[in-house]
Amino acid sequence: MSAPVLEFRQVVKRFGSVNAVDGVSFTIERGEIFTLLGPSGCGKTTTLRLVAGLEEPDGGEIFIAGKCVAAPARGLYLAPEKRHLGMVFQSYAIWPHLTVFENVAFPLRVRREANPMVRQRVDQALEVVGLGGFGERGATQLSGGQQQRVALARALVYQPEILLLDEPLSNLDAKLREQMRVEIRALQKKLGLTVLYVTHDQAEAMTLSDRIAVVNRGRFVQVGTPEEVYERPLTEFAASFLGRMVSFTGIVRRNSAAYVIEFADASRCALGDHVPNSCTDGGAVQLQTRPEDIAILADGALESHQLSAAVEQVAYLGESFEYHVCAHGVSFVLTAAKKHRYQAGDKIRLALDPARLKIGPV
Ligand SMILES: Nc1ncnc2c1ncn2[C@@H]1O[C@H](COP(=O)(O)OP(=O)(O)O)[C@@H](O)[C@H]1O
Ligand SMILES: [Mg+2]
Repeated sequence: MSAPVLEFRQVVKRFGSVNAVDGVSFTIERGEIFTLLGPSGCGKTTTLRLVAGLEEPDGGEIFIAGKCVAAPARGLYLAPEKRHLGMVFQSYAIWPHLTVFENVAFPLRVRREANPMVRQRVDQALEVVGLGGFGERGATQLSGGQQQRVALARALVYQPEILLLDEPLSNLDAKLREQMRVEIRALQKKLGLTVLYVTHDQAEAMTLSDRIAVVNRGRFVQVGTPEEVYERPLTEFAASFLGRMVSFTGIVRRNSAAYVIEFADASRCALGDHVPNSCTDGGAVQLQTRPEDIAILADGALESHQLSAAVEQVAYLGESFEYHVCAHGVSFVLTAAKKHRYQAGDKIRLALDPARLKIGPV
């Protein structure tokens, strides 16, 4: 088996008393899009800069294609220009006084490559990002999305071992961002690129990635496919950072074979045998669910796995409605198709899906 394209072993990077990267280990395989997803300040950019060689780690080891590029304990550190990486930053710097062609050619000029080779590589890179024939234009004559593609072409032009993308779409408007996501994914598949992608945008991470690392305070709290991290979050942080969670608390009542959760107002919700062993009879319990797993039903007699709720506010989103509802003192937002029409003040029932509830002690 060939070595992973990138490997971190217990990598640490400190800035004063801040552990920006706090003992991180992971590998990226060839042809994979691996995304670091986390809030601002969690250490994403620092991780990318460590890969690129723009920062030196304080501890651990970094390997690119099986070759050690940084190992402070052994005094080992390979300079950025020897690492064969391409990088695109959030604020993609396009040189306004240069043509599109010369912007893309820049990394090759720095490396003093021969002219015919430069022409061939640049034309190829522009073709790949859909800007064939734009070479002689001034870079600032292009739209935001086209300038972003120039930055991508420039990162691709010397066929990097790994493409490093740091929030490359965050300066684009929402529509263009969605379009570029799809384009980057298609390009990555077509060229078999290995990409380390950074974003704080959950939807971007979900649509682009083969695997996602959820990052919090310099640590990887979970690594998995988009589906794994969304459907089976390992921590409260991962659950709330990827999508929303609604949680209710109640008391477990054991009723022969089945469990029932009793709420403060004495209403009950039956959960069959989905209650884990760690929840004892009479103990406080927390129910957590994704809002999209809750169905809205019109007012009526409560059945098992249902809660009564009230509509507090309604927002019309064009293709759907957003209902701000309150159940058992917990307020949250549900999206519903237009065929459901409720108004502020309406009493409704919410049907929980026992198979999709996370149940645990408080
Ligand atoms: N050059 C630096 N000097 C001091 N602190 C830094 C430096 N770069 C990053 N940090 C700190 O390290 C932490 C991680 O930053 P960063 O990697 O930029 O996060 P992210 O990209 O996830 O927003 C933050 O607390 C940030 O303030
Ligand atoms: Mg950053």
